[in-house]
Amino acid sequence: MKEKLFAKFAELFGDADEAGFYFSPGRVNLIGEHTDYNGGHVFPCALTIGTYGAARKRADRTIRFYSMNLEKFGVVEASLDCLENKKEYGWANYPLGVVWAFAKKNHLIDTGFDMVIWGNIPNGSGLSSSASLEVLTGVILTDLYGITDLSMIDLALIGQYSENNFNGCNCGIMDQFAVAMGKKDNAIFLDTSSLSYEYAPVVLKDAKIVITNSKVKHSLVDSAYNDRRQECTDALHALQSVLDIESLGELDMETFEKNKSVINDPVRIRRAKHAVAENQRTIDAVAALKASNITKFGELMNQSHISLRDDYEVSCEEIDILVDLAWKIPGVIGSRITGGGFGGCTVSIVKNDAVDTFIETIGKAYKEKVGHEAEFYTVDIGDGARRME
Ligand code: GLA
Repeated sequence: MKEKLFAKFAELFGDADEAGFYFSPGRVNLIGEHTDYNGGHVFPCALTIGTYGAARKRADRTIRFYSMNLEKFGVVEASLDCLENKKEYGWANYPLGVVWAFAKKNHLIDTGFDMVIWGNIPNGSGLSSSASLEVLTGVILTDLYGITDLSMIDLALIGQYSENNFNGCNCGIMDQFAVAMGKKDNAIFLDTSSLSYEYAPVVLKDAKIVITNSKVKHSLVDSAYNDRRQECTDALHALQSVLDIESLGELDMETFEKNKSVINDPVRIRRAKHAVAENQRTIDAVAALKASNITKFGELMNQSHISLRDDYEVSCEEIDILVDLAWKIPGVIGSRITGGGFGGCTVSIVKNDAVDTFIETIGKAYKEKVGHEAEFYTVDIGDGARRME
């Protein structure tokens, strides 16, 4: 990859002398969905697929971005003197947002830079191509400008800050955290209320993680996401009239059930119920994994899907078809929607000897029912974002 990236860099920007080489992964969340902005737990892992970048400092205040995946945008040019989100920048609003966030947080970027990227995370699939790009940019900036007082967690927070305030999606911290802090063969058990975390080895013995891409992305994803977040905030405010809590993540199911009537709206009750139950499922799932009880882990994944489908309502017909098909296949330990929802991917744990049947059976039935092909990736868990040699 490095050769192609550097050849492009040289073609566009004269030569690639002294350009740095960087990588930032995508992520998949195993369980703990829509809990991160509710102060609950999540359990994502970084993937070995991701975004590669080549970058070099310039002497003036110009910033130039080029994506080998989205060549139609050409070289996107911006300036340090005008850090604004512009529609015509397209994808480059993500790295530019990180430059903006560095400035906002008083980390000095005093000259521009040139940056070329190429990635193998399918766009819009819910595997965090945008968080990958944000954290990649953070790593590039700290490296190019010799900024040493930012940890990888700081880079995750800066990525989230730029996505919230520069790109308008009110996302939680899970994606950027997983991308920044990923560790090979481990998932990250993160408490989003304190950012305390623990690595848990994902030992599946005779099974694999299979991601299935529905290849649908329903519009209004960001606005529906922001709506869900607001509904949870409304529910929390109502509960705070009777409970001394700061987030839904502090509640157990029993306390929630006893007090839920103060929310006084069936939709918001279901949203909050999901947040509370999913947090508990995540804690239980990590305990099951540590106890090598993969069957239990899979059951909790299945329950997570049902809750996201019925109570949180972030699934869609195509994803439900994929999950229903998966549940019927012997050797599937668990299967659920993963990521923000409204399309994107499912994550399944599948016994090694059932993977071929899984791909063939679901591939065929999905095409018949939906009219287009799904894509399958048997993935490995990789390390977080970094400078490469
Ligand atoms: C998106 C957001 C995350 C998280 C998930 C749902 O991926 O970026 O912060 O909320 O959705 O779990």
